[in-house]
Amino acid sequence: MLKLAVLVSGGGTNLQAIIDGIDSGLITNTSIEVVISNNKNAYALTRAANHHIPAKAISPKDFETRDEFNEALFCALCEQEIDLVVLAGCLVVIPEKIIKHFRNRIINIHPALIPSFCGTGYYGLKVHEKALERGVKVTGATVHFVDEGTDTGPIILQKAVEVKEGDTPKELQLRVMEEAEWRILPEAIDLIANQKVEVIDGKVQIRR
Ligand code: GRF
Repeated sequence: MLKLAVLVSGGGTNLQAIIDGIDSGLITNTSIEVVISNNKNAYALTRAANHHIPAKAISPKDFETRDEFNEALFCALCEQEIDLVVLAGCLVVIPEKIIKHFRNRIINIHPALIPSFCGTGYYGLKVHEKALERGVKVTGATVHFVDEGTDTGPIILQKAVEVKEGDTPKELQLRVMEEAEWRILPEAIDLIANQKVEVIDGKVQIRR
Protein backbone atom coordinates (compact mmCIF):
# COMPACT_ATOMS: atom_id res chain seq x y z
CA MET A 1 0.00 0.00 0.00
CA LEU A 2 1.42 3.36 -1.06
CA LYS A 3 1.03 5.78 1.84
CA LEU A 4 0.47 9.36 0.73
CA ALA A 5 0.88 12.71 2.41
CA VAL A 6 -0.93 15.34 0.37
CA LEU A 7 0.33 18.90 0.86
CA VAL A 8 -2.11 21.67 0.00
CA SER A 9 -2.57 25.41 0.34
CA GLY A 10 -5.98 26.23 -1.07
CA GLY A 11 -9.19 24.85 -2.48
CA GLY A 12 -8.00 21.30 -2.77
CA THR A 13 -9.69 20.26 -6.01
CA ASN A 14 -6.63 18.16 -6.86
CA LEU A 15 -6.85 16.56 -3.41
CA GLN A 16 -10.51 15.84 -4.20
CA ALA A 17 -9.51 14.20 -7.49
CA ILE A 18 -7.16 11.91 -5.53
CA ILE A 19 -9.83 11.08 -2.93
CA ASP A 20 -12.35 10.35 -5.70
CA GLY A 21 -9.77 8.32 -7.62
CA ILE A 22 -9.14 6.10 -4.61
CA ASP A 23 -12.90 5.74 -3.93
CA SER A 24 -13.67 4.83 -7.52
CA GLY A 25 -10.79 2.37 -7.88
CA LEU A 26 -9.01 4.48 -10.50
CA ILE A 27 -6.13 4.72 -8.04
CA THR A 28 -5.22 1.35 -6.55
CA ASN A 29 -2.98 0.22 -3.67
CA THR A 30 -2.99 3.72 -2.18
CA SER A 31 -4.14 5.41 1.00
CA ILE A 32 -4.00 9.04 2.05
CA GLU A 33 -2.42 9.02 5.50
CA VAL A 34 -2.44 12.74 6.09
CA VAL A 35 -3.30 16.06 4.48
CA ILE A 36 -1.07 18.96 5.51
CA SER A 37 -1.84 22.59 4.77
CA ASN A 38 0.33 25.64 5.37
CA ASN A 39 -2.87 27.64 5.46
CA LYS A 40 -5.28 27.02 8.34
CA ASN A 41 -8.24 28.27 6.30
CA ALA A 42 -7.65 26.14 3.23
CA TYR A 43 -10.87 24.47 2.07
CA ALA A 44 -8.72 21.43 1.33
CA LEU A 45 -8.69 20.76 5.11
CA THR A 46 -12.51 20.59 5.10
CA ARG A 47 -12.41 18.19 2.17
CA ALA A 48 -10.06 15.95 4.16
CA ALA A 49 -12.28 16.13 7.26
CA ASN A 50 -15.37 15.29 5.15
CA HIS A 51 -13.64 12.08 4.14
CA HIS A 52 -12.28 11.29 7.62
CA ILE A 53 -8.69 11.77 6.51
CA PRO A 54 -6.32 13.03 9.23
CA ALA A 55 -5.46 16.63 8.45
CA LYS A 56 -3.28 19.26 10.02
CA ALA A 57 -2.26 22.83 9.44
CA ILE A 58 1.44 23.53 9.78
CA SER A 59 1.91 27.21 9.11
CA PRO A 60 5.20 29.14 8.93
CA LYS A 61 3.39 31.84 10.91
CA ASP A 62 3.32 29.58 13.97
CA PHE A 63 7.09 29.28 14.10
CA GLU A 64 9.77 31.80 14.92
CA THR A 65 12.08 30.76 12.14
CA ARG A 66 11.75 29.11 8.75
CA ASP A 67 14.06 26.33 9.97
CA GLU A 68 11.65 25.48 12.79
CA PHE A 69 8.75 25.34 10.34
CA ASN A 70 10.78 23.15 7.95
CA GLU A 71 11.64 20.79 10.79
CA ALA A 72 7.98 20.52 11.87
CA LEU A 73 6.98 19.67 8.31
CA PHE A 74 9.76 17.09 8.06
CA CYS A 75 8.71 15.50 11.38
CA ALA A 76 5.07 15.34 10.31
CA LEU A 77 6.07 13.39 7.20
CA CYS A 78 8.50 11.08 8.98
CA GLU A 79 6.23 10.15 11.86
CA GLN A 80 3.62 8.80 9.42
CA GLU A 81 6.07 6.64 7.42
CA ILE A 82 5.01 8.29 4.20
CA ASP A 83 5.98 6.69 0.87
CA LEU A 84 4.97 9.51 -1.47
CA VAL A 85 4.49 13.22 -0.85
CA VAL A 86 2.00 14.79 -3.27
CA LEU A 87 2.11 18.56 -3.72
CA ALA A 88 -1.45 19.31 -4.79
CA GLY A 89 -1.64 23.07 -5.12
CA CYS A 90 0.97 23.51 -2.40
CA LEU A 91 2.56 26.95 -2.33
CA VAL A 92 5.29 26.14 0.18
CA VAL A 93 8.88 25.90 -1.04
CA ILE A 94 9.87 22.40 0.02
CA PRO A 95 13.06 22.46 2.11
CA GLU A 96 16.15 20.68 0.81
CA LYS A 97 16.21 18.26 3.72
CA ILE A 98 12.78 16.93 2.71
CA ILE A 99 13.72 16.77 -0.98
CA LYS A 100 16.87 14.76 -0.14
CA HIS A 101 15.08 12.42 2.24
CA PHE A 102 12.23 11.80 -0.21
CA ARG A 103 14.33 11.73 -3.43
CA ASN A 104 11.99 10.80 -6.31
CA ARG A 105 9.20 10.35 -3.76
CA ILE A 106 7.71 13.85 -4.02
CA ILE A 107 5.49 14.76 -6.96
CA ASN A 108 3.97 18.08 -7.97
CA ILE A 109 1.19 19.09 -10.34
CA HIS A 110 2.01 22.19 -12.40
CA PRO A 111 -0.69 23.86 -14.51
CA ALA A 112 1.34 24.20 -17.73
CA LEU A 113 3.38 22.09 -20.12
CA ILE A 114 6.84 22.26 -18.54
CA PRO A 115 9.27 23.78 -19.60
CA SER A 116 6.77 26.47 -20.65
CA PHE A 117 5.35 28.85 -18.06
CA CYS A 118 7.15 27.39 -15.08
CA GLY A 119 9.84 28.31 -12.57
CA THR A 120 9.94 31.03 -9.94
CA GLY A 121 6.86 33.24 -9.94
CA TYR A 122 4.76 30.89 -12.08
CA TYR A 123 2.02 29.68 -9.78
CA GLY A 124 -1.77 29.77 -9.63
CA LEU A 125 -3.56 32.11 -11.99
CA LYS A 126 -0.26 33.77 -13.05
CA VAL A 127 0.62 30.74 -15.16
CA HIS A 128 -2.56 31.10 -17.20
CA GLU A 129 -2.23 34.89 -17.47
CA LYS A 130 1.25 34.43 -18.94
CA ALA A 131 0.07 31.73 -21.35
CA LEU A 132 -2.73 34.02 -22.59
CA GLU A 133 -0.36 36.99 -22.81
CA ARG A 134 1.98 34.94 -25.02
CA GLY A 135 -0.91 33.80 -27.15
CA VAL A 136 -0.19 30.08 -27.02
CA LYS A 137 -2.81 27.89 -28.66
CA VAL A 138 -2.13 24.88 -26.47
CA THR A 139 -1.27 24.66 -22.78
CA GLY A 140 -1.82 21.87 -20.27
CA ALA A 141 -0.52 20.34 -17.08
CA THR A 142 2.52 18.39 -15.92
CA VAL A 143 3.11 15.96 -13.08
CA HIS A 144 6.77 15.81 -12.16
CA PHE A 145 9.08 14.67 -9.42
CA VAL A 146 10.38 17.45 -7.23
CA ASP A 147 14.08 18.17 -7.09
CA GLU A 148 16.03 21.14 -5.73
CA GLY A 149 14.99 23.44 -8.58
CA THR A 150 11.62 25.04 -9.27
CA ASP A 151 9.62 22.79 -11.63
CA THR A 152 12.85 21.15 -12.85
CA GLY A 153 12.42 17.53 -11.72
CA PRO A 154 11.82 14.51 -13.97
CA ILE A 155 8.50 14.72 -15.86
CA ILE A 156 6.07 11.86 -15.22
CA LEU A 157 2.96 12.77 -17.22
CA GLN A 158 1.77 15.71 -19.32
CA LYS A 159 -1.55 16.47 -20.95
CA ALA A 160 -2.29 19.20 -23.48
CA VAL A 161 -5.34 21.46 -23.31
CA GLU A 162 -6.63 23.76 -26.04
CA VAL A 163 -6.65 27.51 -25.45
CA LYS A 164 -9.84 29.05 -26.81
CA GLU A 165 -10.36 32.46 -28.37
CA GLY A 166 -11.41 34.97 -25.70
CA ASP A 167 -10.44 32.75 -22.73
CA THR A 168 -10.00 34.57 -19.44
CA PRO A 169 -7.27 33.30 -17.09
CA LYS A 170 -9.96 31.79 -14.85
CA GLU A 171 -11.68 30.02 -17.73
CA LEU A 172 -8.38 28.61 -18.90
CA GLN A 173 -7.43 27.57 -15.36
CA LEU A 174 -10.67 25.63 -14.98
CA ARG A 175 -10.29 23.90 -18.36
CA VAL A 176 -6.70 22.91 -17.50
CA MET A 177 -7.88 21.50 -14.17
CA GLU A 178 -10.84 19.60 -15.61
CA GLU A 179 -9.14 18.26 -18.72
CA ALA A 180 -5.63 17.72 -17.42
CA GLU A 181 -4.77 18.17 -13.73
CA TRP A 182 -7.60 16.11 -12.23
CA ARG A 183 -6.80 13.31 -14.67
CA ILE A 184 -3.02 13.05 -14.76
CA LEU A 185 -2.42 13.51 -11.03
CA PRO A 186 -4.53 10.44 -10.07
CA GLU A 187 -3.05 8.53 -13.02
CA ALA A 188 0.52 9.29 -11.93
CA ILE A 189 -0.22 8.18 -8.36
CA ASP A 190 -1.70 4.91 -9.59
CA LEU A 191 1.34 4.29 -11.80
CA ILE A 192 3.70 4.93 -8.88
CA ALA A 193 1.61 2.80 -6.51
CA ASN A 194 1.93 -0.08 -8.96
CA GLN A 195 5.71 0.29 -9.43
CA LYS A 196 5.37 1.38 -13.04
CA VAL A 197 7.45 4.53 -12.75
CA GLU A 198 11.22 4.52 -12.83
CA VAL A 199 13.69 7.40 -13.02
CA ILE A 200 16.67 6.60 -15.22
CA ASP A 201 19.33 9.24 -15.92
CA GLY A 202 16.98 12.00 -14.76
CA LYS A 203 14.14 10.90 -17.03
CA VAL A 204 11.00 8.97 -16.22
CA GLN A 205 10.28 5.65 -17.87
CA ILE A 206 6.78 4.25 -17.54
CA ARG A 207 6.01 0.56 -17.89
CA ARG A 208 2.37 0.12 -18.90
C1 GRF B 1 -3.80 24.04 -9.37
O1 GRF B 1 -3.94 24.73 -10.59
C2 GRF B 1 -2.42 23.49 -9.27
O2 GRF B 1 -1.90 23.01 -10.47
C3 GRF B 1 -1.69 24.70 -8.85
O3 GRF B 1 -2.54 25.34 -7.91
C4 GRF B 1 -3.88 25.01 -8.19
C5 GRF B 1 -4.43 24.39 -6.94
O4 GRF B 1 -5.72 24.01 -7.03
N1 GRF B 1 -0.35 24.42 -8.45
P1 GRF B 1 -6.43 23.12 -5.90
O5 GRF B 1 -6.04 23.65 -4.54
O6 GRF B 1 -5.99 21.69 -6.09
O7 GRF B 1 -7.88 23.30 -6.17
